[in-house]
Formats: sequence, structure tokens, C-alpha cells
Amino acid sequence: MSFAPGDEKKGANLFKTRCAQCHNLEAGEGNKIGPNLHGLFGRKTGSVEGYSYTDANKQKGITWDENTLFEYLENPKKYIPGTKMAFGGLKKPKDRNDLITFLQSSTK
Ligand code: HEC
Repeated sequence: MSFAPGDEKKGANLFKTRCAQCHNLEAGEGNKIGPNLHGLFGRKTGSVEGYSYTDANKQKGITWDENTLFEYLENPKKYIPGTKMAFGGLKKPKDRNDLITFLQSSTK
């Protein structure tokens, strides 16, 4: 299964309730517990300057896009064994589609 465009408003709400405690989205807002997600699409794993990633995240070596995020966010610890991101995953494909649709516009 792969990404399909979803509901951006629902995605915004998912981000607020499931991700925002650990991640900022705006340029210049800095890192929280997790790295700033500004400019995420098209970026290699582990490339936010000044953020202290695990080797597992740094060395994953993929580029973040709709489809890699779709797989990652279902089960982060399965996609990147050894990651320190304490998030169980969004099991429903619809939730991931909504969230990724929101991230496409909000990380630019
Ligand atoms: C409890 C805190 C926490 C929550 C909640 C969380 N994250 Fe993370 N996230 C992290 C940490 C910490 C890392 C760095 C992982 C590492 O270095 O192993 C990370 C890494 C990432 C990365 C990889 C970034 C890169 O530059 O390679 C993405 C993408 C990501 N998170 C997206 C999300 C999304 C989307 C959500 C909501 C569904 C979310 N995270 C929820 C803490 C969190």
C-alpha cells in the first residue's frame, strides 16, 4: 500500500495531538525532543543540523517523501530499528494519509 491524498484538516488535528509535543514545523523554531520537521520532504534521514540523532536514524539513508513517511509512521520502530522516537505508530492508513497531506503543506 502507498500514500494517497487525504484530509488536511484532520491531519492538522492529528499532528497537534500526536506529534506536536515533540516536533516543530516552522523554520527557525528549533528542535524539541525530536528534530524540526521544516523542509522534511526531499531531505535525507538524520540531516537536521544541531540535532542529536541516534545512529539508527542517521544511517537509515532514505529520503523522506510521501511513501517513505507512509511506511515509517505505521511503525517507526520497525522501519528504523533502534530509533529513540517514542511513538507507537498510526495504524490506520487513512490517518497516515491525512497527516502526510497536512505535512506536505506545513513543512514547506
Ligand atoms: C515522544 C516524542 C515524539 C513523538 C510523539 C513523535 N516523534 Fe518523531 N521523532 C522523535 C525523536 C526523538 C526523533 C529522532 C529519532 C532518532 O534520532 O532516533 C524523531 C524523528 C522523526 C522523524 C525523522 C526525522 C529525520 O530528520 O530523519 C520524522 C519524520 C518524525 N519523527 C515524524 C513524526 C511525526 C509525523 C509524528 C506524529 C505522528 C512524530 N514524529 C511523533 C520524537 C517524537
